[in-house]
This record gives sequence, C-alpha cells and structure tokens, in this order.
Amino acid sequence: MNVAETREALSELVGGIQPGDPLPPERDLAARLSVSRTTLRKAIAELVSIGRLVRRHGVGTFIAGPKLAQALSATSFTEDMLARGFEPGARTLSARTRSAGAVLGRRLEVSPESEVLRVYRLRLADRDPMAIEELHVPSALVPGLSGDDLASHSFYALLEQCYGVRIATGVQALEPTVTTPEESELLRVPVHSPAFLFERTSRTEDGQVVEFVRSVYRGDRYRIVAEIAPRG
Ligand code: GLP
Repeated sequence: MNVAETREALSELVGGIQPGDPLPPERDLAARLSVSRTTLRKAIAELVSIGRLVRRHGVGTFIAGPKLAQALSATSFTEDMLARGFEPGARTLSARTRSAGAVLGRRLEVSPESEVLRVYRLRLADRDPMAIEELHVPSALVPGLSGDDLASHSFYALLEQCYGVRIATGVQALEPTVTTPEESELLRVPVHSPAFLFERTSRTEDGQVVEFVRSVYRGDRYRIVAEIAPRG
C-alpha cells in the first residue's frame, strides 16, 4: 500500500476506537496493515494534519473527537455552543477604542474619524480554546461597552438587551490559514496548524453595519457545512 492507501485504511481502523484513546503502537499497526513503519508514520502524520489524530508532545498520539459542524449562519458563538450542549466562554485578550481609519471605516460604513471599539477575544467551549475573534464595532452603537463586558457576556445578547440592536443579516468570507505562533499558543495547537479564517460583516434589518469580525477557528475542531442555494 502507498501512503494514501495506508492513510485511508488507518483512518477506517481509527474510526473504531473511542475519541481520546491512544493510537495503538506503531509496530502493531504496521503489522496489521502490512506496511513499513516509514509508510505508516507518513500516514499518521497526514491524519494528524487533518485533525483525525492529535499528537501531544512527550505523551503520544490520540484519536481526535468528532469535529463540530459549523453552519454559515447569523448565530453567535454563544448560541452555537449552547445548541451543542457546550458551556460557551470568552477571555478578553485586549480591548481599545481608536478612530476607524480609511479601511475599517469603509468596512463599517462610518467616517475614518469615527471611534471604533476593537476587542480581541479567545472563545472557549467547555474551557477548551476553539477560536480567536477580533471584533470591531462602531463605538456610537455601543456606548459604555467594555472588553470586560465581553468576557462575561455574549456580544449579541448585550447588543439586543442593552442597546436594542438586533443582527439580522451578514456576509461571511472563509479562507484557509495556518496559525501564527501567538495564535497557536492561545489555541493550544502546534505552530502553523490548519485553521479557518472568517471575516464577517453583520447588519441590522435596516442595513446598518454593526460589526466587522475577523476570526481564526481551529481546523482540527471544525468543519464548515453550508446549505446549497437552490438551482435557479
Ligand atoms: C460569532 C460570529 C461573530 C460574533 C460572535 C458573537 O462568533 N462569528 O461575528 O461577533 O459570534 O458571539 P457572542 O454573542 O457569543 O459574544
């Protein structure tokens, strides 16, 4: 078997093992699949890179849990996590207010001089780091909102309850990326791990831009599932 065939056979074999359990010893796997240790190691490395296996340095290689299917919808991180039965969480890494400047001003449809609140948050599910979000919101929409508020509360819930602003629609772009050393440390993944880069612009029912968010989601924990629009 070549590496690709070995990867597929190994993937099937691994499917019968409980997530969180260790991968059986290499010599057993190589014998079971009748492949060399070199081919097996390459196949293992491929399964690690696509998130089927998790390598913990100095400990070993383990079967990864199932990935979370993330829809492209206007829901919040908190709503998504609650719907899955996880405890949502956030850690504010930094928060500051500054003028929008030309680029962000265009995205938020405000003047370059307008004040914008930028909050950088780590998002958690059952205390596990899942994503890093860089939120930009025009300050005029959320007077008094602080980074601390967003560590303990859902942004979308605060928007609705405290500011009477409801997000209705949005545009979301998705690109592949790899984690920087800083992101890797925060997300507790190896440097240059595959990840999803999202950019979302959300609007109210009457078209006002509420947020521009750039987020990095762990590639080993998520798969993106989108409804296909009906054929015209
Ligand atoms: C998702 C969206 C972000 C939004 C966030 C709000 O992660 N991609 O655009 O800002 O949810 O989450 P929460 O209401 O949990 O703070």
